[in-house]
Amino acid sequence: MNKSWWQEAVVYQVYPRSFQDTNGDGIGDLQGIIKHLDYIKKLGVDVIWLNPIYSSPNDDNGYDISDYRNIMTEFGTMADFNQLLKTIHEHGLKLMMDLVVNHTSDENAWFVEAKRSVNNKYHDFYLWRDGKDGKAPNNWQSEFSGSAWQYVPSVNQYYLHLFTKKQADLNWDNSDVRHEIFDLMNWWCDKGIDGFRMDVINLISKDPAFPDDPNLKGEVHGSSMTMAANGPHVHEYLKEMYKEVLSKHDLITVGETPGASTADAIKYTGFNSHELEMVFQFEHMGVDISPTMGKWTDRPFKLVDLKRIMSRWQTELNGKAWNSLYWNNHDQPRVVSRFGNDAAEYRELSAKMLGNCLHMMQGTPYIYQGEEIGMTNVGFPKISDYHDVETLNAYKELVQDKHSVTDGQMMRYIHKHSRDNARTPMQWNDEPNAGFTAGEPWIDVNPNYDQINVANALADPNSVFYFYQKLNQLRKQYSIIVYGDYELIEPEDEQVYMYWRHLDGQKLLVVSNFTDQTLRRSIIQRRGTGHMLISNYQNDSGDQLRPYESRTYLIN
Ligand code: NOJ
Repeated sequence: MNKSWWQEAVVYQVYPRSFQDTNGDGIGDLQGIIKHLDYIKKLGVDVIWLNPIYSSPNDDNGYDISDYRNIMTEFGTMADFNQLLKTIHEHGLKLMMDLVVNHTSDENAWFVEAKRSVNNKYHDFYLWRDGKDGKAPNNWQSEFSGSAWQYVPSVNQYYLHLFTKKQADLNWDNSDVRHEIFDLMNWWCDKGIDGFRMDVINLISKDPAFPDDPNLKGEVHGSSMTMAANGPHVHEYLKEMYKEVLSKHDLITVGETPGASTADAIKYTGFNSHELEMVFQFEHMGVDISPTMGKWTDRPFKLVDLKRIMSRWQTELNGKAWNSLYWNNHDQPRVVSRFGNDAAEYRELSAKMLGNCLHMMQGTPYIYQGEEIGMTNVGFPKISDYHDVETLNAYKELVQDKHSVTDGQMMRYIHKHSRDNARTPMQWNDEPNAGFTAGEPWIDVNPNYDQINVANALADPNSVFYFYQKLNQLRKQYSIIVYGDYELIEPEDEQVYMYWRHLDGQKLLVVSNFTDQTLRRSIIQRRGTGHMLISNYQNDSGDQLRPYESRTYLIN
């Protein structure tokens, strides 16, 4: 197998808006990231992925870029960026930028020109179609509710927006668009950045016939992302990107690919694909999602489903492509509240259990800010406490327009799945606003910050933080953690997730109790003379697994 630094690395994701404010405007900024680089370094990670920091009107918190070569005013200046990059490198860390090129803001200069006239050079930078019988060109629904098409009177046409109407989809079939994008990517690479996380990159190539979405009939809430996923020219365009940009620099790349199967992932990231290095797949994020209501549900998840999906990705990519490993990001609820147990008694135990269960798999682990201290979901009482455009639009659609769910139901679903669960400010200490800002935070702090915060975590040798630090250290020590093959044990066990890793005659045994029960499983016999590398309890209780207990053994 080829061995690459990014396979051995651990990535730490920073959501700059909610990380650290240094100028009192209530919004996190680049100086705030600089302030905490020692903290990030101490965790033992290698790469920092920043959510978009480019100029943006923030209709979708930076995923609507108005100028790809400038820094968002709220976050600072290009001088701050240069200082950040330099300081990151001085810490021996690398920087991965978010690249959002499926769409731009409607305030981007390209779009401002595009909507002036059909004859404007930039018109064809976007996806325009005539209406049908006075209505949108087809039935596609935006990921964030409502039609995916917006009418513009000045050109008497509709443009496609798979996300909000301020996020207009680019026309990748136009080679000028592709060259503009490759230019801006090279421009950032020349500044010395170390990689890209590519937003919804498998949506860039659409079928120009724009057929109706057959899956939408009778749905109360739908999205047409699948209609745009893995389109006709996507591999051709990514290979071109590889040739024009990626092959010229030593980068870490990961493409966000909703709806991608393992077979798709092998096409995008196969070791000889000349496209990407990793994808963010979503199948495991679908275990508690409803086929008709999407995330607006309180469906519980089943461990056997999670194991089946994770294991399929582990075995089918093995030797062919490389997994990304994640439980969390800025779009997902907090994992300790989702697959663990955030009650005071079990929060730290289950947060560590989830860390061990994931980080011992084959792939590159991603840690989302706050995961390393076991931050939890938030349950704001009112819809007006929320800021996320997806949450607000879904509430309006389902509660106010269609009356398909009550306010009470919807708030329950929001508490489980809203993206704002991940976006409340980083909890640094028990001072006002968790030490995030001296001003009014743009979104309220989770009230549990007086207990759950970095200062407490750093002061407690048994904290989730030091457990994650140890996971990162072990990864550097044992190449079996990085490169070993994976084998699931007892797929039908509904309570325990147990698997092997194998490399050159060595084995790892990873055992995780996903329940608050004390259970018995055959562990002593399996581990034999192996020794325990890490555990979230103080001692080894053999075949007895205490609530949320998790251990890894190395067997030589
Ligand atoms: C995926 C990003 O992670 C999400 O935050 C964003 O809303 C959409 N792509 C649209 O850019």
